[in-house]
Amino acid sequence: PTAQIGVTGLAVMGSNLARNFARHGHTVAVHNRTAARTRSLVDTYGEEGTFVPAESAEEFVASLEKPRRIVIMVKAGEATDAVIEEFAALLEDGDVLIDGGNAHFQDTRRREKALRERGIHFVGTGISGGEEGALNGPSMMPGGSVESYTSLGPLLESIAAKADDGAPCCTHIGPDGAGHFVKMVHNGIEYADMQLIGEAYQLLRDVAGYSPAQIADVFRTWNTGRLDSYLIEITAEVLSHVDEATGKPFVDVVLDQAEQKGTGRWTVQIALDLGVPVSGIAEAVFARSVSGHSDLRDASRHLTGPTPRTLGTNEAAAFADQVEQALYASKIVAYTQGFHEIAAGSEQYDWNIDLGKVAAIWRGGCIIRAAFLDRITSAYEAQPHMPSLLADKSFAQEIAAAQDDWRSVIATAVTQGVPTPAFAATLAYYDSLRAERLPAALTQGQRDYFGAHTYHRTDREGTFHTLWGGDRTEVES
Ligand code: 6PG
Repeated sequence: PTAQIGVTGLAVMGSNLARNFARHGHTVAVHNRTAARTRSLVDTYGEEGTFVPAESAEEFVASLEKPRRIVIMVKAGEATDAVIEEFAALLEDGDVLIDGGNAHFQDTRRREKALRERGIHFVGTGISGGEEGALNGPSMMPGGSVESYTSLGPLLESIAAKADDGAPCCTHIGPDGAGHFVKMVHNGIEYADMQLIGEAYQLLRDVAGYSPAQIADVFRTWNTGRLDSYLIEITAEVLSHVDEATGKPFVDVVLDQAEQKGTGRWTVQIALDLGVPVSGIAEAVFARSVSGHSDLRDASRHLTGPTPRTLGTNEAAAFADQVEQALYASKIVAYTQGFHEIAAGSEQYDWNIDLGKVAAIWRGGCIIRAAFLDRITSAYEAQPHMPSLLADKSFAQEIAAAQDDWRSVIATAVTQGVPTPAFAATLAYYDSLRAERLPAALTQGQRDYFGAHTYHRTDREGTFHTLWGGDRTEVES
């Protein structure tokens, strides 16, 4: 056996990952359910490195050095269990099976436990960066045992993206499902980032009256500043693209119904279970959902709104600057919520996740890579047990400086009838956290009134109930 690593499942992500390993000097065993694909990979890209093609699972496993390391790159879902079982049956103590798909972390926990009992390391690994990242350097989020990382880590780090300081965008996230959990939240944040950018675009379009090409220029300018990120960069590309068939801006000929494969939705479902308020991420998921309800939207065409007022040129430029402030402030809050969810998951499942390291490996390769993540790393390095990213002074100061514009942009959106659910939800979260008193006291009173659900007092320990139906004296319960 000569191969250091094997990849099974050679659709675009799998074959790009295999090529990435080969290009870094590793001998890569490759296998696919239909062998034609394996042959075509080797025929087309064989020159890039050393591939060991295998027609059968047995041949594939036999070509691997021990401990064997096999990356499974099949579509997440039911097929995964069958593929895992097929290979697990051929493996021995200490071998490592890696699932590089977007699996649900609970599935990963289940699979890890079952395989651990059979002596096999199962490493659920988040991989971000799409097809391009898989080939040229993704951000990688492996979970699983510490021991598995000793043998697998150096291989993954060699093909991962490198951040500006040269550090590989790959780290051992934590036991069992930790890697897939972190990838899930990455995608939730990705949804929020995309929705916030979408809201900024819509405001520039409807309120500033800019064309898609003009908005592309605005985004290009923003991309030279603190919003510097992959998503802002590609937004400018998409907005400046013109549809060949019609000559119209591409964005105007695409059906405005956003799809989703599920990781953003999971982020919100799990956040609800963990009791973590991820309102900005949730609004991003809901916004995709609303967009897809063509029935509801068709049935709502008669609903009225305010008459839009497009700004003059100077006003529009000033407004665009304010939108930049709003986008930045909302982005800080969306990341705050995502990191809170990772902290809560880590606590719940005993993963001991280093939040600063998570931010560090998102600096390159992944879809949400951004200059901004360096700052998050420094914030967690300075205060590893920060209860919230907003506890960091420099982020708090930036929001303080942005907030007048943030509020004013949202007020304009509301007045003009432009939906900005993620802008508004993130601001409401911020205002809720800083509020001296919340109406939750009233909620407690109502609950006690109709259901004797009891309440706590601000001035004394204990659990109390007021006899609402009687003389309204307070009893300690
Ligand atoms: C990544 C992406 C990747 C995929 C998303 C798309 O990090 O490389 O997040 O995982 O493109 O799953 O998600 P939706 O189809 O749900 O938008």
